[in-house]
Amino acid sequence: MIAFAHAKVCLTAFVGSHVAGVSRDLLTEHFLTLSDEGRFQRFLRRMDTEAIDAHVEHLLADAHALIIASQSNRIRGLAELYISLQEPSAEVGLSVLERHQGQGIGTSMTTMLIRIAEHARCTALSAVTLMENSAARALLKNLGFRQRGSGEECHATLLMQHSDDSRVPN
Ligand SMILES: CC(C)(COP(=O)(O)OP(=O)(O)OC[C@H]1O[C@@H](n2cnc3c(N)ncnc32)[C@H](O)[C@@H]1OP(=O)(O)O)[C@@H](O)C(=O)NCCC(=O)NCCS
Repeated sequence: MIAFAHAKVCLTAFVGSHVAGVSRDLLTEHFLTLSDEGRFQRFLRRMDTEAIDAHVEHLLADAHALIIASQSNRIRGLAELYISLQEPSAEVGLSVLERHQGQGIGTSMTTMLIRIAEHARCTALSAVTLMENSAARALLKNLGFRQRGSGEECHATLLMQHSDDSRVPN
């Protein structure tokens, strides 16, 4: 677990088996506190309580890393990292409570996840957003993700090169 203060918000990274120790209730409360629109932007579908419970279950069991932005013991933002072992590549899920958006929390959390994905030797990091989601698209573009449209969805990918992959040209 790593933690550092971001303005008045504290960012904490839970990696590997530490993810399972995060409070289920706090995670559920976070997703329920997002507006309907924020939840739709995060999951690209409507999420009822049952679907949120199922996602929290999946997060605790399968996420490789979780960044929590907290203030006064409440979650203000979450960044989830899921690694698929075949490549290995990874997918990011982001959500910052509306009142706390536009303060750099999403960018800071994603930057931490990029470092964790690099450390895990992922070759690529991806995120799916709605084409109309200008905040998520700006955030991903600023961090170097290339974006490709597919109907209403935007698929963003960051290719990662590891230091020992670089070749000296002949
Ligand atoms: C996308 C999201 C995580 C961004 O979090 P955030 O903490 O507000 O992001 P930041 O403050 O780091 O800002 C990132 C960029 O988005 C821009 N931005 C923030 N809010 C914006 C808004 N409402 N409209 C347009 N751009 C916006 C910022 O200006 C910044 O770009 P810039 O540096 O070029 O100006 C947040 O809006 C969110 O949780 N949305 C709902 C869920 C979601 O869309 N998840 C993404 C799909 S996984």
